[in-house]
Amino acid sequence: MSDINDSDFNFIRELVYRESAIAIEPDMKYLVESRLTTLARKSEFRGINDLIERLRSSRNVDLEGRVVDAMTTNETSFFRDSHPFDTLCEEVLPTIASSQSDPIVIWCAACSTGQEAYTIAMAILERCPVLAARVSIIGTDISREVIAKAQSGRYNRLEVNRGLPAHLLTKYFSQDGLSWEVSQALRDMVQFEEMNLIKDWDQMSPMDIIFLRNVLIYFDPDVKTRILRNTSKYLKPHGCLFLGLSETTLNLQTDYTRVTTDRSHYYKVA
Ligand SMILES: C[S@@+](CC[C@H](N)C(=O)[O-])C[C@H]1O[C@@H](n2cnc3c(N)ncnc32)[C@H](O)[C@@H]1O
Repeated sequence: MSDINDSDFNFIRELVYRESAIAIEPDMKYLVESRLTTLARKSEFRGINDLIERLRSSRNVDLEGRVVDAMTTNETSFFRDSHPFDTLCEEVLPTIASSQSDPIVIWCAACSTGQEAYTIAMAILERCPVLAARVSIIGTDISREVIAKAQSGRYNRLEVNRGLPAHLLTKYFSQDGLSWEVSQALRDMVQFEEMNLIKDWDQMSPMDIIFLRNVLIYFDPDVKTRILRNTSKYLKPHGCLFLGLSETTLNLQTDYTRVTTDRSHYYKVA
C-alpha cells in the first residue's frame, strides 16, 4: 500500500518539474515516498502526508527547495570517467592558455558534492602546474545540501576510495578522524555556489571551459536545448564544453560541434 495518493504524487511531480525541470516518471512513486519520508523525519513534520499538506496550504519557498533538494540524484566520484580530465590537461587547457593571457575560468555546473571540481583542480596541479595560478574553478548545483558539503571539502572513507588514487589522497588531503579534508592548494582554486540551471543565468559571467556532466540526462529535450543554448552564450569564443559519457547534443537544436580526441570528446561553438 502507498504512503501517498496519486493526487499528492502528481502535486510533487509538478512542483519538482516547475522548480528544477527534473522529470519524475509516473512509475517513481516509491522514490518520492522514500525521499520525502526521510525529509519529513529530518524536519518538523509528523510524516510525508503532513509535509505535503503544508506544501499545499501556502507557498513556502524554503520547503519547496528542500523537497527539490531531496529529489536530486547526487551520484558522483573523484576522476569520474577519467578521460575528460586527460583531454582537459593535454589539449584544451594548454590551447586556451596559449591563445590569451587572461585568467582562465572553468565552470563545473551541477557539481554535486564537489568531487568533480576538486578533481579538475588536482588534474591541473599535477599535469599543468604552471597554469594552475591562472585557473579558477567555480562549482555550482541546485542543491543547498550538496553545495554545503562541497564547501566543507570533507569526505569519508567510502568517498575517497572511489576514484581517487592513493598518492593524490596523501598529497591533497589531510586526515581528521574518520574524514579527509581537502588541502589549501585545492581550496585556493575552487569555490562553490548554489545555481539552478533553469533559472539563475543572470549571475553567470563568461567562461573558458564548462563541465556539464551527468545532469542533462534528467531533463526533457526542450530543457536540454534551452540549457545548452545558455551555456553557448556564456562560453568565450575559444571555449569548450564537456558533457557526460552518455550525453550528446545530437538531435538538439544547438550551435555546438563535437570535437573527438583520442580518448574522449568535447564541444565547441561553431
Ligand atoms: C548525477 S549528479 C552529477 C555530478 C557531477 N557533475 C558528476 O558528473 O559526477 C547531478 C547533479 O545535478 C544537480 N541538478 C539537478 N537539477 C539541477 C538544476 N536544475 N540546476 C542545477 N543543478 C541541478 C543535482 O543536484 C546533482 O547534484
